[in-house]
Amino acid sequence: MDDFIELEEHFGAHNYHPLPVVLTRGKGIWVWDEKGKKYLDMLSAYSAVSHGHAHPRLVKALKEQAEKIAVASRAFYTDKLGPLLQKLCALSGLDMGLPMNTGAEAVETAIKAARRWGYQIKEIPKDKAEIIVAEGNFHGRTTTIVGFSSEEAYKEGFGPFTPGFKLVPFGSASALEKAITPNTCAFLVEPIQGEAGIIIPPADYLEQAAKICRKHNVLLILDEVQSGLGRTGKMFAFQHAGIKPDGLILGKALGGGLLPVSAFLSRRDIMQLFTPGSHGSTFGGNPLAAAVASEALNVLKEEELVQKSAELGSYFLEKLKNLRSPLVSSLRGIGLWIGIVIDPAKASARAVCEKLMEKGLLAKETHQVVVRLAPPLVITREEIDWAVEQISQVLSEMQ
Ligand SMILES: Cc1ncc(COP(=O)(O)O)c(C=O)c1O
Repeated sequence: MDDFIELEEHFGAHNYHPLPVVLTRGKGIWVWDEKGKKYLDMLSAYSAVSHGHAHPRLVKALKEQAEKIAVASRAFYTDKLGPLLQKLCALSGLDMGLPMNTGAEAVETAIKAARRWGYQIKEIPKDKAEIIVAEGNFHGRTTTIVGFSSEEAYKEGFGPFTPGFKLVPFGSASALEKAITPNTCAFLVEPIQGEAGIIIPPADYLEQAAKICRKHNVLLILDEVQSGLGRTGKMFAFQHAGIKPDGLILGKALGGGLLPVSAFLSRRDIMQLFTPGSHGSTFGGNPLAAAVASEALNVLKEEELVQKSAELGSYFLEKLKNLRSPLVSSLRGIGLWIGIVIDPAKASARAVCEKLMEKGLLAKETHQVVVRLAPPLVITREEIDWAVEQISQVLSEMQ
């Protein structure tokens, strides 16, 4: 094992701090290290593996498409992209989609769309468009995106940054309204902040934000790269608020745990501002990705993974609440997306994750104090019971 860790550490950039485990195989909610030890994957690759590892239907779709045609570029039409976009539009209630690969690229696409709309439709003076974003946001790692992060570690040494972004506190609709000027084209926000530690805003926040955006002719663009596709117990987190965004960013689970697939979806009057040559991606929307993403959406529906996320998520959260460990300062969760906040005076979240790893449960800390639990949505009640037992043991042993 040390060889693989040493190799990665020696030849790879140290931009992550992995747990010391070398994974060689995954099936469903389980992964195995190179010595054959089995672990429950409670991270799901930051929600990208919502369908579980190597889902047979998705692997079949991948293989079949790979043998037909995998990459064609958008210089040509394919028989896979249109049907995928049609499905995404039907699911989200939006009119058109632009396919990309990673979440960050889809966020960049949304930023371009919002700015174009700002200049061409709202008639904001040239180069004056502003986008409001929330403190604690995480939208990816490009220089533009980290430039409007409130997290110093994400930005340090990477400036100068793209202007035109304004930060407001997450969860405050009145702060959003105060920050809007005639040059504001969009409010870009995660309905629930994942990387910040599964921060759930006040119940009426999105509804208020949607009203304020409508009143001031500002686009509401939701980044559901992590919260979307069932993670929160609804297909999209915005459905908890009964609103409809003007733009929606999806990624992670859209690739079925097999490929990077992302998309920006929006109303037709916004999307049609993209004209040939104005934006693109060599791999975005390739038929291999589109075939897998289409099947990933079918599996979500046919295996009722969204309902499972809602039901099993509440069950999981209740069981964790019953542990009443003094190490835990609070617990929050929605669907199969739970943050255990560890009291930093008593233990670090990293230490908890290391102990959980020894017990065969892989979770990852975020922001030093939160243990994030986001298992594949195919997990069962019995498997949750087993996970809670391991968590319970670790918390008592660390007291
Ligand atoms: C809400 C949100 N947006 C965007 C991203 C970036 O996605 P990617 O890492 O695929 O670029 C992430 C990744 O964690 C995310 O959680």
